[in-house]
Amino acid sequence: MSTRTPPRTFHVKSFGCQMNVYDGERMAELLTAEGMTATDVRENADLVVLNTCHIREKATEKVYSDIGRLRREDGTTPLIAVAGCVAQAEGPEIMARAPSVRVVVGPQAYHRLPQMVAAAVAGGRETETDMPAEAKFAALPKRRKSGPTAFLTIQEGCNKFCTYCVVPYTRGAEISRPFADLVDEAQALVDGGAREITLLGQNVNAWTGAAPGGRAIGLAGLAEALARIPDLARIRYTTSHPADMDDALIAAHADNPKLMPFLHLPVQSGNDRVLKAMNRSHSAESYLRLIERVRAARPDIALSGDFIVGFPGETEAEFADTLAIIDAAGYAQAFSFKYSPRPGTPAAAMDGQIAPEVMDERLARLQDRINRDQLAFNRASVGRRCTVLVERRGRQPGQWLGKSPWLQSVHFSDEAAIGDLVEVDLIEAGPNSLSGRRVVQPAA
Ligand code: SAH
Ligand code: SF4
Ligand code: F3S
Repeated sequence: MSTRTPPRTFHVKSFGCQMNVYDGERMAELLTAEGMTATDVRENADLVVLNTCHIREKATEKVYSDIGRLRREDGTTPLIAVAGCVAQAEGPEIMARAPSVRVVVGPQAYHRLPQMVAAAVAGGRETETDMPAEAKFAALPKRRKSGPTAFLTIQEGCNKFCTYCVVPYTRGAEISRPFADLVDEAQALVDGGAREITLLGQNVNAWTGAAPGGRAIGLAGLAEALARIPDLARIRYTTSHPADMDDALIAAHADNPKLMPFLHLPVQSGNDRVLKAMNRSHSAESYLRLIERVRAARPDIALSGDFIVGFPGETEAEFADTLAIIDAAGYAQAFSFKYSPRPGTPAAAMDGQIAPEVMDERLARLQDRINRDQLAFNRASVGRRCTVLVERRGRQPGQWLGKSPWLQSVHFSDEAAIGDLVEVDLIEAGPNSLSGRRVVQPAA
């Protein structure tokens, strides 16, 4: 047993999805409340928290190489804590394989991080991967400061059990945070400077709750309540599952002016046999009908998706159906991945695992289409006037960077400040961003 002096500085590094980013912020707030100071320079930190992702193999391997890289020249290491989904899935393996790790804490237990760090300082090695679900949020400090855009986790976990996916195992069963807590946290974020809030969940549109008075509501009802916060200008949500896209949420895209015209709705594959083997509860056709209904409510909505290429048994013809659904759906952007067998998931044991070269080739073809469509979407925005929420300075002097309602990055040069909502005429489009001219307001 080796004791240490208590850490004074810390560094949290988050991998993976936006929910991990949110968790990383909350862990930083907890450690700050304990009197520690955040540092951007990982080498100088007394405590390093690696907030990990387990979704694909590479993500897991990265954790071990990161742990190795934390060793200093004199052979010492900072106090290392491994949090997140790899901690949940492989806690004991991490402890066995990486003796320098002193704390392993799962995504539902990180409210206990300060006590665990204290126990590690006293010489222990601590593991906590219980899933008490709601206990965590109640134990976290109130939110105080925020940039112009903020994340707010409203729902956690997943009951869908897609056959390739580890999330139901690492994050546990679906839970929805209570309505009143969410309204309070959103208000605190807005008071702290947020103008835009992105509501997060592994299945964010599966959120359910009770409005004051007890009426059962879904995500549309929550967004309606949050829209009443005066200084909150924009509401987004991610990630949605097609099965939970109800009529009220579709209607909200027509009726709630603060709900941004953007929908991330993963389809994964365009082939019904593959979708069935993935245990997705939709077909290619039902997905396309669903986005038709969303577009009827909000014609300018920007659609985003996720794709997996090389799922076990995927034939060339089945892959061609995925290319076809991309053409039919018309995405503004999308994420695409090579299938990665995950330990303990049904798909990892399926016949017909696809060779890496085949996956590489399919991924390249798929990404060509997505890039083509993304550029086309951005080009079609040229000539539009839109509101941009200013997030930060651009690379060039005098330049600012923000997001359009359709989640495009927009550069412009003019007077502005972070957090401003400015009117911009979009004049030029590239694959990843647009440039525009700020509309000069006539003097009042
Ligand atoms: N809950 C969300 C997404 C969670 S994971 C949803 O269902 O849409 C984010 C994305 O990672 C998934 O949409 C999927 O495209 C991808 N993914 C998940 N497991 C994977 C695996 N084993 N191999 C490759 N990609 C995977
Ligand atoms: Fe994973 Fe499917 Fe759940 Fe999404 S819906 S988190 S892909 S199991
Ligand atoms: Fe990764 Fe866990 Fe998110 S596996 S994608 S960090 S839910």
